[in-house]
Amino acid sequence: MKVTIIGTGYVGLTTAVVLAYLNHDVAAVDKDNNKLNLLHTGESPIHEPGIQDLIDNVGHTIRFTSRFDEVVPDAELIMIAVGTPPKKSGEADTRHVEDAAKEVAQFCDPDKHYTLVIKSTVPIGTNRRVAEVVNEVFSQRKIQGDVSITSNPEFLQEGLALQGAFYPDRIVVGANSDNAIEALRRLYKPILEQTFDPPSWLPRPPSYHLPPMMTTDPNSAEMIKYAANTFLALKISFINEIAGLCEEVEADVTEVARGIGLDSRIGHRFLRAGLGWGGSCYPKDTAALLGVAAQAGYEMPITAAARTVNFQQRKRIVEKLRAVLKTLHGKRIGILGLAFKPNTDDIREAPSLDIIRQLVAEGAKVTVHDPIAMPNTHKLLHDIQINFVEDVYQLSYNADALVLVTEWELYHRLELRKLAKQMKTPILIDGRNVFSPQEARSAGFHYIGIGR
Ligand code: UDX
Repeated sequence: MKVTIIGTGYVGLTTAVVLAYLNHDVAAVDKDNNKLNLLHTGESPIHEPGIQDLIDNVGHTIRFTSRFDEVVPDAELIMIAVGTPPKKSGEADTRHVEDAAKEVAQFCDPDKHYTLVIKSTVPIGTNRRVAEVVNEVFSQRKIQGDVSITSNPEFLQEGLALQGAFYPDRIVVGANSDNAIEALRRLYKPILEQTFDPPSWLPRPPSYHLPPMMTTDPNSAEMIKYAANTFLALKISFINEIAGLCEEVEADVTEVARGIGLDSRIGHRFLRAGLGWGGSCYPKDTAALLGVAAQAGYEMPITAAARTVNFQQRKRIVEKLRAVLKTLHGKRIGILGLAFKPNTDDIREAPSLDIIRQLVAEGAKVTVHDPIAMPNTHKLLHDIQINFVEDVYQLSYNADALVLVTEWELYHRLELRKLAKQMKTPILIDGRNVFSPQEARSAGFHYIGIGR
């Protein structure tokens, strides 16, 4: 199929390269010339495991451009995958989605049928607004265009984006027309039937079952995205709330999570207690859902509480540090990990940022390490004094405490004894419960985890 994708961020670019890999004829539009320049030289503007391999493999078959007029008229299916940043009120700003829809309507051929797919995460009812925008442009152009608006939310997990794209749990399509549903079914056929040859580095998981394509109305599809993310965010906040109580009553939250996760109605996943969620989705989407609810005059106390619990986790870790060091002023603190989670250089809403700012505000001397997110952090925290080190063991020289913030695989394999030996006071705050308390203690650390 001839597909045009608008936006080459995490979602747009992943979708573009995967669809090209599945032999679709893909064009991608972006306004950002820096990104386009990189893409024209075959380089990925995002860090995502496997994406560079796919670009090396099929990137040359994708047309990357800033010109809608070149790639809209011929397309059969057009996907909007632009950002929906939060407004001050927390609601998602759909301006870029509407702008993209206007451009599409501007260059549609009046004699052709198009399926316009909204992939961006948008407030419920945006599909209707996009239809209005498209029709306004058509009436200005004095044409009767033929566009079916469809909602097809993505469930991309950063760091696992390609795995999720090739082997999704489900595909959700919200549409009012059979034509549009049929177009999406054709688009995703190789995934729905798993007829493609997997990339050598991403084999099909042996237990993987063919994914269902669920069809529904567009408003429900838009709500599914918010409800899914909010539910996962709730699950994590729930275990973090239990972790807080575990500390009071001397129980171990990792054992509690294991015990409740064995109940198949609950399940093991997303029950890791720690510093809670960051990233581009849960903080933004829970705020946006509350924004939608406020507009509707509806209260959502559970969602609001999940946010409160989540952001408290960042304060509680600083409190733990303050309690053990008596004062933070002048203390040397090493931070292990900056990205909001492993396998990404994304630091949007990362717990590390709040923690570092708080420590610096209290007069601590902060040194940080991350395998790939240091350049992004450097750009964002240029207004405060922190040290960046390339060698993780440098973090511990003369340090008063170490705080693990992101559970990078390489930190699991650290020589704890070597770290502890170099420190002024060997205190380890494990914000993700990565280490075994016994091992950390026998390596010489005063170990403090979360909820254990
Ligand atoms: C999420 C959703 O998973 C995805 O489906 C959606 O499309 C976008 O939002 P992402 O933000 O990339 O994806 O990351 P995810 O793996 O869900 O983790 C989010 C945050 O939760 C991370 O900060 C992670 O550290 C934290 N987390 C996750 C926990 O604290 N505990 C857990 O058990 C799981």
